[in-house]
Amino acid sequence: MQNTATGVPVLTIDGPSGSGKGTISRAVADTLGWHLLDSGALYRAVGYAASMAGIDLSDAAAVTRCAETTKITFRDLNDGGETRVIVNSHDATDEIRTETCGATASVIAAIATVRAALFEKQRSFRKAPGLVADGRDMGTVVFTDAAYKIFLTASAEERARRRYKQLKAKGLSVTLASLLREIQARDERDATRKVAPLKPAAGALIVDTTAVAVEEVIARVLAVVHPV
Ligand code: C5P
Repeated sequence: MQNTATGVPVLTIDGPSGSGKGTISRAVADTLGWHLLDSGALYRAVGYAASMAGIDLSDAAAVTRCAETTKITFRDLNDGGETRVIVNSHDATDEIRTETCGATASVIAAIATVRAALFEKQRSFRKAPGLVADGRDMGTVVFTDAAYKIFLTASAEERARRRYKQLKAKGLSVTLASLLREIQARDERDATRKVAPLKPAAGALIVDTTAVAVEEVIARVLAVVHPV
């Protein structure tokens, strides 16, 4: 099935932090040979740029100007490693992945004009042969006409455990209890905000990944695009 708007199919994968969206979206995009939009990285990049510029995060106008003017580019080094995120010509890949930056992203993401500033940038990722769009509102706001919509979820405890493993592997010093608290606070902020709250799109396939192996989740998502 193709989208009527542009003819380029879109698969949206929304869900809370730690639900496995990043890993699943990357694997599915690679298998399909489609482009990938990591929309969370855009919000993280704006939060990072605003913090670096010393902008007061409660100053909506200043943060919005920052969202409008910050240059964000994704660079694949084709070495199988993480996609690099370049913010105003600085490689900020590592800085934007911290929990602090995730929390900052979730604060500035609640500002409607910041979301509006990133809207067209996100839409511009829709290119042939297809796009996998990972985020919170991909299916509900940005690509409402997507042909395929998924909502990934998992218990907060399991998501905290996954983040713990990831951050430890990167050598960061974190505790499971503090991660769980941060995840719950971020869920609450993302799900209760007025603009584009985190929720499944109408008709989305909801996949609870708590006790499901990554390969199985990938297979279920791929089956939505190519029914077996
Ligand atoms: O997905 P990730 O954890 O990188 O996203 C960081 C934050 O950016 C989220 O907690 C959320 O507040 C915000 N975000 C959003 N809409 C998106 C993607 C991310 O509001 N489409």
